[in-house]
Amino acid sequence: MKTRAAVTIAKESPFEVREIDLDAPRPDEVRVKLIASGICHTDAIVRDQWYPFPLPGVLGHEGAGIVEEVGSEVVDLAVGDKVVLGPAYCGVCRHCLAGHPMYCENFFARNIGGSRPDGSTAFSDAEGPLSSNFFGQSSFAEHTNVIATGVVKVDEKAPLELLGPLGCGIMTGSGAVLNVLCPKPGSSIAVFGTGAVGLAGMLAARAAGVTTIIMVDVVESRLAFAEELGATHTVNSKETDPVAAIQEITGGGAEFALDTTGVPGVFTQMTDCLGILGHGVLVGAAKLGDSATIDIGTRLTSGISISLVCEGDAVPKDFIPRLIALYEDGKFPFDKLTKTYALEDINTAFADSADGSTLKPIIVY
Ligand SMILES: NC(=O)c1ccc[n+]([C@@H]2O[C@H](COP(=O)([O-])OP(=O)(O)OC[C@H]3O[C@@H](n4cnc5c(N)ncnc54)[C@H](O)[C@@H]3O)[C@@H](O)[C@H]2O)c1
Ligand SMILES: [Zn+2]
Ligand SMILES: [Zn+2]
Repeated sequence: MKTRAAVTIAKESPFEVREIDLDAPRPDEVRVKLIASGICHTDAIVRDQWYPFPLPGVLGHEGAGIVEEVGSEVVDLAVGDKVVLGPAYCGVCRHCLAGHPMYCENFFARNIGGSRPDGSTAFSDAEGPLSSNFFGQSSFAEHTNVIATGVVKVDEKAPLELLGPLGCGIMTGSGAVLNVLCPKPGSSIAVFGTGAVGLAGMLAARAAGVTTIIMVDVVESRLAFAEELGATHTVNSKETDPVAAIQEITGGGAEFALDTTGVPGVFTQMTDCLGILGHGVLVGAAKLGDSATIDIGTRLTSGISISLVCEGDAVPKDFIPRLIALYEDGKFPFDKLTKTYALEDINTAFADSADGSTLKPIIVY
């Protein structure tokens, strides 16, 4: 069938919105009519080829929509189901089976390889195949084929225009806090980066009862917004040494920390700001081969833990409905981060995300 998509032609070039071909769903797939797709910082860095997704192709990995056709082997989804799309995983490797599908041994191939496991692509145009299956979905298209294991059915009253970002950015920040750090009520956290991922982490920390929440960024307007949303302290690290500030606020160091920037020097600040037995998580994406330093001499006796976390270590079919329940209960107002755009305006949406004026752009089809 024909569908409309934002195609990424070449490294660092603008998206081109045009008609392309979508093939028939495979037996283990569903065809989804997208209602909306969030834009994640990872779409921007893959467009710019920090990760080797083959181009030309279709990016987008925060899709939400309605199931239109169901492959013959799919048992848990039906035509008309409302769904949020999560990353793909194989479901049979030991990490998938141990309850950590975001650490699937085949994660990179399934999500960034640009094709199905058999090498075929869902999309094509007159010139030939277009890479597809980005994070299992390639959601910058009005219709797409998705392997059913990554598809999360939601309530028929669910607001699909809003929910796509639960499949990556929002799940990443909140999952890092709720699934990995597991902070106790009354504890302290420092979050580096007040983009959508950092703010999702902040909202999750609040929902978990964390009472000292220190947000660090270099953009004053983002820090002001974080304060509006419930940060107890903000630090502009262009003006103030964040490690000294966090140590002073917490009386010796934060119990928990989250780095969403992917900047090597910020990773070092995150490890330095932790108190004794503190736990820090890195989720910010750096270029392949980037390294960061940590003072192993001084920090050895502090007993700190550092985790590098993919997609909030979530089981999307379990975690996304929990986030929706928290949202409906008023404890996770991630809708305040979003702004909607038409597909034709996708390049504006990316520009607004890059200059900091929009936290979480959502393309509504
Ligand atoms: N680990 C994963 O599975 C996963 C999933 C989704 C996104 N990501 C990554 O998470 C990161 C955050 O995503 P986002 O959508 O929130 O991006 P974003 O660009 O909106 O937010 C990043 C924030 O970091 C701030 N920042 C940049 N340099 C800084 C510095 N030196 N000190 C303090 N703050 C600084 C920016 O001002 C910005 O507010 C990206 O790198 C993205 O690729 C990772
Ligand atoms: Zn697996
Ligand atoms: Zn993402």
